[in-house]
Amino acid sequence: MDVVEDVSELRRRVGAERCAGRTIGLVPTMGYLHAGHRSLLDAARRDNDMVVASIFVNPTQFGPGEDLASYPRDLKRDHAVLDAAGTDLLFLPSAADMYPDGAGAQAIWVEPGALAGNLCGASRPGHFRGVATVVTKLLNMVQPDTLYLGQKDVQQAAILRRMVRDLAFPVSVRVLPTVREPDGLALSSRNAYLTPEERAEAPALKRALDCALAMIGTGERDVARLVAGMEEVIRRDAPDGRIDYISVVDAATLQPVVSLQGDVLIALAVYLGKARLIDNAEITIG
Ligand code: PAF
Repeated sequence: MDVVEDVSELRRRVGAERCAGRTIGLVPTMGYLHAGHRSLLDAARRDNDMVVASIFVNPTQFGPGEDLASYPRDLKRDHAVLDAAGTDLLFLPSAADMYPDGAGAQAIWVEPGALAGNLCGASRPGHFRGVATVVTKLLNMVQPDTLYLGQKDVQQAAILRRMVRDLAFPVSVRVLPTVREPDGLALSSRNAYLTPEERAEAPALKRALDCALAMIGTGERDVARLVAGMEEVIRRDAPDGRIDYISVVDAATLQPVVSLQGDVLIALAVYLGKARLIDNAEITIG
């Protein structure tokens, strides 16, 4: 695998592949790779002639007091994961290349608007603006045919899909299913923050989602009762958890639904010690 830090060098290498008619898949990451990233890399490998992965811990998507400085990093291990997945090129941009005048001096942003107004966007103001802006830069630098994202970060995926459509980026977006531990916990780099006691409570998020799906399966259509059922599971199985939100929204607009109808997204975020865990389930209700 080639490792490229310089943007001009990246453009030269990827441009040569594009000119030769080869397809390019991009897997953008912040590193500390796990099996969820691996599934994105595997899909990109199957679909494309060239697989580009990026690692950049993007400062503009972290709010004040969030974990930018302590975000887990292990470049050596990441290198091994990328190599094993058959990645062709690892792009490791510097902060100066991504934000030439400094992140604070960025004048033009990609604003996701109402799509960032609730769910994670409500408790992380500015987060999705930072994500949309950095992914725009990565798309402009790499110019891939396909962008690979994970369903665990469902709001991010919805915003980036919409960004690609609304701003006419010449790229397809593929969203791959959440990869889970055997006990149901969704893989996340931030799981590294969990103490053994918190780790034992963490599968409560998936259990709460399963509870909601089971309630829907037996005919429940009342959103408030679904949310109450999920809260009960979190209180019972993750007593140290603090619920940030449990929401039932329209899968396309991400706006809260009053009646369960059509494509619906059930999403939650729970603070457990230093970690803020998220998970979601999508369901179509006829
Ligand atoms: O999902 C992530 O790791 C990040 O939000 C992304 C898409 C790499 C942008 O920094």
